[in-house]
Amino acid sequence: RTVYVDGEYLPENEAKISVFDRGFLFADGIYEVSAVLNGRLIDNDLHLARLERSVREILIPMPLTVADIAEIQAELIRRNDLLEGVVYLQVTRGTADRDFGFAEDMKPTFVAFTQAKTLRDTASVKNGVAVAIMDDTRWARRDIKTVMLLAQVLAKKSARSAGFHEAWLVEDGCITEGASSTAYIITSDGALVVRPNSHAVLPGCTRQAVLKIASEQGLRIEERLFTVAEAHEAREAFLTSASSLVTPVIKIADRVVGDGTPGPITRRLQTIYLELAL
Ligand code: PDD
Repeated sequence: RTVYVDGEYLPENEAKISVFDRGFLFADGIYEVSAVLNGRLIDNDLHLARLERSVREILIPMPLTVADIAEIQAELIRRNDLLEGVVYLQVTRGTADRDFGFAEDMKPTFVAFTQAKTLRDTASVKNGVAVAIMDDTRWARRDIKTVMLLAQVLAKKSARSAGFHEAWLVEDGCITEGASSTAYIITSDGALVVRPNSHAVLPGCTRQAVLKIASEQGLRIEERLFTVAEAHEAREAFLTSASSLVTPVIKIADRVVGDGTPGPITRRLQTIYLELAL
């Protein structure tokens, strides 16, 4: 595989990052993941806009323009013949002797690579997944897509060990989001409920695209907090992310959602999202 590190396209085994990179020492950096279907990037403008916002929020200068980054993504897709999978981007504050404080003129480290992966034709997308319920133990700025992901890594591990695909995280009795996805329910009267964007959740790019479709479809959208009890009573549930697209949720903790198969509204949103993406 060819990867991109600070200005160079290199075979992955020749690419190097310093031991003193602050991404490695402090998780002092941010990332983005864009899906690729049929060789084309999905919702990529939204992902690049969020990358720009993330670096700004943690006081890292943009290492390249958005247009330059898009060109690197396209080049990596070409060089790696990527038809389906993701392009990963990471910006860290850069390399310096270890110190919590940092100089404002540091040169950020920029890394990009592709990951070939079936996204569309998976058992999860087709048949739905089970999600565990777990405490949200993350920090207070979850709107920044930081590489500081230990809480998510451990939540996911614990969920997977218990036979679940994803963990839905809970704070003050309400679901914030999945460990690596946005969480939605459809109520018994057919409303689509999703938590509003705030510092408590990552503003999902797939969320933005799916809510646009939902509104064009005439669905009633309620951007509000929802409890675990409401999720248990939901008629349908689903999750979204760049890598899971629109994935039905058929079980939440030990409770089956609806009749235990992907619901019709979820299916409609999934179908339209994929049609527009392809
Ligand atoms: N995760 N919430 C969290 C905590 C996430 O990590 C993600 C994405 C999302 C969905 O965002 P989007 O629709 O923009 O992908 C929500 C990516 C896929 C990852 O970490 O691999």
